[in-house]
Amino acid sequence: MTTQEEINLPFNEMIEPKLLRHRVVSPQLYSEIHKRSLDQGPQFWESVARELDWFKPWEKTLDDSNPPFYKWFVGGEVNASYLTVDRHANGWRRNKVALIWEGEPWSDGPKEVKKLTYLDLYREVNRVAYLLKEEYGLGRGDTVGIYLPMIPELPIFMLAAARLGVAFTVVFSGFSAQAVADRMNDAEAKLLVTADGGWRRGKVVPLKDIVDKALESTKTIRNVLVVRRTGQEVRMEKGRDRYLHEVLSKVPQNAYVEPERVKSEDPLYILYTSGTTGKPKGIVHDVGGYMTLLHATMKWAFDIRDEDVFWCTADIGWVTGHSYIVFGPLMEGATEVLYEGALDYPEPDRWVSIVERHNVSVLYTSPTAIRTFMKYGEQWITKHDVSSVRLMHSVGEPINPEAWRWFFKLVGKERIPFGSTWWMTETGGILITVTPGSYMVPMKPGTNGPPILGVAANVYNDEGKPVPEETKGYLVIERPWPGMPLTIHRDPERYVKVYWSKFPGTFYVGDYAVKDKDGYFWILGRADEVLKIAGHRIGTYELESALIQHPAVAEAAVVGVPDPVRGEVAEAFVILRGGTSVRPELKEELAKFVRENYGPIAVFREIHFVNKLPKTRSGKIMRRVVRAVATGSEVGDITTLEDEASVEEIRKALQEFKEELKRT
Ligand code: WT7
Repeated sequence: MTTQEEINLPFNEMIEPKLLRHRVVSPQLYSEIHKRSLDQGPQFWESVARELDWFKPWEKTLDDSNPPFYKWFVGGEVNASYLTVDRHANGWRRNKVALIWEGEPWSDGPKEVKKLTYLDLYREVNRVAYLLKEEYGLGRGDTVGIYLPMIPELPIFMLAAARLGVAFTVVFSGFSAQAVADRMNDAEAKLLVTADGGWRRGKVVPLKDIVDKALESTKTIRNVLVVRRTGQEVRMEKGRDRYLHEVLSKVPQNAYVEPERVKSEDPLYILYTSGTTGKPKGIVHDVGGYMTLLHATMKWAFDIRDEDVFWCTADIGWVTGHSYIVFGPLMEGATEVLYEGALDYPEPDRWVSIVERHNVSVLYTSPTAIRTFMKYGEQWITKHDVSSVRLMHSVGEPINPEAWRWFFKLVGKERIPFGSTWWMTETGGILITVTPGSYMVPMKPGTNGPPILGVAANVYNDEGKPVPEETKGYLVIERPWPGMPLTIHRDPERYVKVYWSKFPGTFYVGDYAVKDKDGYFWILGRADEVLKIAGHRIGTYELESALIQHPAVAEAAVVGVPDPVRGEVAEAFVILRGGTSVRPELKEELAKFVRENYGPIAVFREIHFVNKLPKTRSGKIMRRVVRAVATGSEVGDITTLEDEASVEEIRKALQEFKEELKRT
């Protein structure tokens, strides 16, 4: 990695919001406060954790006797369903709206809008928990799979499972049958919850059909519960599949299931995420540490209050939705928006109309969404009233300063706090933000900001030494934090290898970053073979595996290339099997094949047919050479040796590959 690269970012442009409840402190003052939080060690987190409602207090704040398998708040007993639902349903928030849900079908506005109060939510969660326990005999140690569209049943099932101490694994409803099967098998789930279908851009996503296909190759699923959403006919397998409304009709309205007193370090859920090689990793999150981080960040990053309407536009199938749709906002007793479908369908301003109609005050969205809105033009925003919004953040991928400025001006009216919170599936919650405590630091267009209180982030070089200011390096987290993973499900060795071995004792994130002289971090993108297409995390390896399943493909190399709206898209270089003729429609056929077998989030800019790929002596594809050609960048970016190949060989391979590409 070169650290001398020209980095062109607005390091010195400081902007102070005018409309805010956060007090603005200077970066220098914040860094002193931050340092003091670190000086306290893990004990810093006790005052945050104490604000949760524990059945039994913890005895040890951090058990670090078996690193890197750290355990937080050991001895404590807690329940995430109790924290999110019971506390509010039994208190003064019982008639407060928890969820405002709107479905996609539209004519002159949403056809369906449902509001669930905390008491409604409590009732539904209890009834579903009752069903899982009494009808399906599920309890601690079991796992359920959830493959649902964005409908209220999705959070309800997550909270019902958490109530019983049953771990759950949610599969994003845009994934294909193979992804469902792989995840169910790895998690050894016994029950799978799905729907007949879900709405997306005017079409029905046939979830149940996909499940039927997935279950041809699962080993542990014994039962399927089907939510009736779209109402179309689906195949129901006798003895295995049942409609939720039918089984639920037998559960009393006032069913109550005692929340399990689970251990702080028990698993809450498994969420699969892509890595450099192999199948997606099942990241396991605990209860006590995870909920503590969410409580802290709901307060610090979002300054959440009872009068707020909170809207995180992510899908619950990703970690953003787990943390900042389901567990975080509900734990705080907030009112929040949940929507089915897309932000820009049926009209480019569906999302602005949601903000306006529901008076959204805190908006959490993504750079790809913002760049999509930019493409449609500002008239779609200016015709609405967005004055309810008082704070915004984006997440999922780096935000370019232009997109930041555009959104800050149009929706932020150049006066409200607007940041880009950095975190990832593994961290459980936000770790870097310009609102890192009960105050904020001045904003800069495109920055992520300093680490939150109690979190030690840094930027290292290849030798594991901190790099100087404004120099590119690897983002690391130097100390354990609440919300960190327990492990990778069924593969603790991989957990150690992927995250804790590059710099022993330090958590390796896999992102490039720079830190400026004010202590702000600027995350530049992934440092490994992971793509962020529209903020969705996809391993190049997974796309290559999907491609080579096609009968025409012998070999494939996939790299990421910049895209003005999606941030990044894939570009594939494919060697066809002998005898395959290059038909003009083959490219589209392959792209479609991958969309069907992986999921529609796999977007290719181009698929090239080549006769040869640049390889090392042992036959490994030199991806960086491929990427240099795809992006037209200098191979000078590669001064470290690609395994077993000399710089000279890489240069030669690059030259040959360029010529190869010209020929085809
Ligand atoms: C990767 C993690 C965090 C929930 C959604 C993504 C990138 C995330 C930012 C940001 C720059 C960001 C990183 C990270 N990323 N947020 N604000 N600025 N990059 O979770 O799917 O696990 O992806 O997303 O590259 O490693 P994820």
